[in-house]
Amino acid sequence: MTTDPHEIAEYPRPEGPLKDGIAEEDNKIPLWFNVTFIGTIVFSLIYIPYYIFGGWSSAGQWSAEVERAEAVYAEVRRAMPTENPYRGDAAAIAAGQDLWVTTCAACHKPDGSGLVGPSLVDPYWKYGRTDEALFETLTEGRPLGMPPWGPTLGTEKIWKVLAYMETLPQSDEAGVGAPEGWTPGS
Ligand code: HEC
Repeated sequence: MTTDPHEIAEYPRPEGPLKDGIAEEDNKIPLWFNVTFIGTIVFSLIYIPYYIFGGWSSAGQWSAEVERAEAVYAEVRRAMPTENPYRGDAAAIAAGQDLWVTTCAACHKPDGSGLVGPSLVDPYWKYGRTDEALFETLTEGRPLGMPPWGPTLGTEKIWKVLAYMETLPQSDEAGVGAPEGWTPGS
């Protein structure tokens, strides 16, 4: 034992093989390391089969979420004005006829051939004749004198009057409101 603080203490030299003059230690692996190491193996044995066969995955979560959203928006889409629900419905068409006579005939003529407003029985459609386009025409109105009917009639009555309008006898002639020189088929 030395008492001189400047003297370097002699430690027992490790006995492992030398590499570049450096002896390899052979310490005991700490418990925390072994616990962590084996723990990860045990965890993977449970987690990997669970992940692969349990059906749980982030892709699965995403699909489930899409499915839920689809269910919600299917409702919304059904309520959207893209298709006339009253097409061919006799009672609705009769109600639509009353509406036509009181609200539309004054400008479009009772037979729909046009007066102040354009003909609605010729093949020319300025704003389109899909259900969606017609619904928009009636709900929001059009700039050259077609009043918006959304606020006064509402969705149901608009579909009904359109269902009636479709039953008017059609004409192949260019009617009131068709641009000059326009002929059917052009
Ligand atoms: C005050 C007169 C007036 C009334 C009432 C009226 N319309 Fe019109 N309508 C017009 C005018 C004018 C236009 C042309 C608007 C334009 O070209 O911008 C038009 C355009 C339309 C169009 C578009 C035609 C196309 O070629 O795209 C449709 C459909 C229509 N009306 C249906 C109706 C229906 C159904 C009613 C009854 C609910 C009605 N209108 C009531 C004046 C009227």
